[in-house]
Amino acid sequence: MTAFVRNQWYVAAYAREVGREPLGRTLLDEPILLYRTEDGRPVALSDRCVHRRYPLSQAPSRLVGDRIQCGYHGFTYGTDGVCTYVPGQQRIPRTARLTAYPVVEQDSFVWVWIGDGEPGGLLPPRAPWLDSPEYTVVSGMEPIDCDYGLLVDNLLDLSHETYLHGGYIGTPEVAETPITTTVDEEAGVVHVSRHMDDAECPPFYANSTGIQGRITRWQDIEYHAPCLYLLHSRVAPVGSPPPNADGTDPHAFHVEVVYAITPSTGRHTYDFWAVARDFALDDREVTEFLHKNNHTVVMQDVDALNVLQKALDTEKPGYQELSINIDTGGLAARRLLARMAR
Ligand code: FES
Ligand SMILES: [Fe+2]
Repeated sequence: MTAFVRNQWYVAAYAREVGREPLGRTLLDEPILLYRTEDGRPVALSDRCVHRRYPLSQAPSRLVGDRIQCGYHGFTYGTDGVCTYVPGQQRIPRTARLTAYPVVEQDSFVWVWIGDGEPGGLLPPRAPWLDSPEYTVVSGMEPIDCDYGLLVDNLLDLSHETYLHGGYIGTPEVAETPITTTVDEEAGVVHVSRHMDDAECPPFYANSTGIQGRITRWQDIEYHAPCLYLLHSRVAPVGSPPPNADGTDPHAFHVEVVYAITPSTGRHTYDFWAVARDFALDDREVTEFLHKNNHTVVMQDVDALNVLQKALDTEKPGYQELSINIDTGGLAARRLLARMAR
């Protein structure tokens, strides 16, 4: 199993999922209750009542103002996790307190700090496209019954697009074009780039951009271990000018693909996915197409990883893998995660 990396920020939910109904999620084996105060602030508390461990995210537990009341015997807790009411007596035991997790709402995500200490000044990594008016976003979340390391492997090696996602985002050139990999050890970021100069345009881009004919297709991955994965995707008709020196790039279409990879348990992972585009911003057909198409692609990965995890679980210990050049990014990520977990 891939070791959990504690003392890090993790995406627990989309901001839109956290409201006045208690929401339960499990992050790194820790059950967490999420809700919003009446003035809109997100709160993350341990999702187990200190009395008999009833989940506070489950009915009939409920919010009373900004407090959460346990549905079993009524213990009630404030947003700081401190118990403010127990039934049948005045004295509230000093230990009647839930863990209160640091929370940051940023870029349409609710991030929760999982660790022993406080985050200090450390903030979650950014995905600013997800709530920028210059982009239109489609997004979702799919749970996978696998070790989160399998999803990291999957996303860092896009050569699988050719086979697993043929007819959607894969074309022969993805698997054929070599990658370059670099690791920023200090920042904890793995970069993997694949630039295809002259490639077939897959339906995902042909139907959304309207490009007919072959494309220049760049895939530049930034994996901010452990949770945030960014794929900067640039697509332009072959022969279009390259980006300008100042970073502007008016001749190309840009798609920012964002994944948050959140380990739930050793065999369960939350796969948050989002696709942000800088073209056809108000075109609802394009939005619907990209939502449906990308959801299909995500489910192809989900199905494959569910199958793979089941197969790995029946292997005898000590089985051997065989790695080749396409695995450079995935192997770098594994090394980085192992170091961060120590
Ligand atoms: S289990 Fe919550 S009050 Fe008893
Ligand atoms: Fe995939």
